[in-house]
Amino acid sequence: MKRGIFITVEGTDGSGKTTQIKLMSEYLKEKGFQVIVTREPGGTEIGEKIRSVILDPENTRMGENTELMLYAACRAQLVSEVIKPELEKGNIIICDRFIDSSYAYQGAGRGIDLNLVTDINRVALDGITPDITFFFDISPKVALLRRVAATGADRIEKEEMDFHMRVYSGYKKLATLYPERIKSVESTRCMDEIFNELKEYLDEILE
Ligand code: TYD
Repeated sequence: MKRGIFITVEGTDGSGKTTQIKLMSEYLKEKGFQVIVTREPGGTEIGEKIRSVILDPENTRMGENTELMLYAACRAQLVSEVIKPELEKGNIIICDRFIDSSYAYQGAGRGIDLNLVTDINRVALDGITPDITFFFDISPKVALLRRVAATGADRIEKEEMDFHMRVYSGYKKLATLYPERIKSVESTRCMDEIFNELKEYLDEILE
């Protein structure tokens, strides 16, 4: 059976994923591959609707388990509507966030048992795992300082920063647990340096 390549990109908010996703997609297209860039939560019409419910700031009463299941519902739709069919066609998919976001944010961040995250997501994943995952490794504290310097923004409450630091530690732990799949990319460096490293990984996986 023809099988494409499934790449996921992870990191805390503001870790610089978006620019690198664009560069990777251009690089792979130039090499003649069909590349589909998608994101979570979202990526499908139904998923985008679920996304707006999850991220609506008015939904302050949303329970942790509700949130966990909505992310999983979004994922189920993306897997069945986009990821599986595109992989079967032999295409390359780059997904901005995937299952590791649930481990890092709902698991490490909110404190939900990781086994529960696994159980809830089993149906959503339907046997799909990423071939390679890039973890954009930059401490949320450093990322915030950079944003402040660049935009003059942004106040962030201590509680919020504590949450992002827990998410960050969660990602670091995942990267040490699954070193074969999850590649930590040191993301305090400049754009070109980061992209050069990504290209090496891409060339390797394309061989
Ligand atoms: P988004 O605006 O797309 O953030 P980013 O540009 O940083 O990717 O918002 C997605 C938010 O959803 C982000 O804060 C991470 C969170 N998230 C989870 O908590 N769990 C998940 O399973 C996923 C996919 C995302």
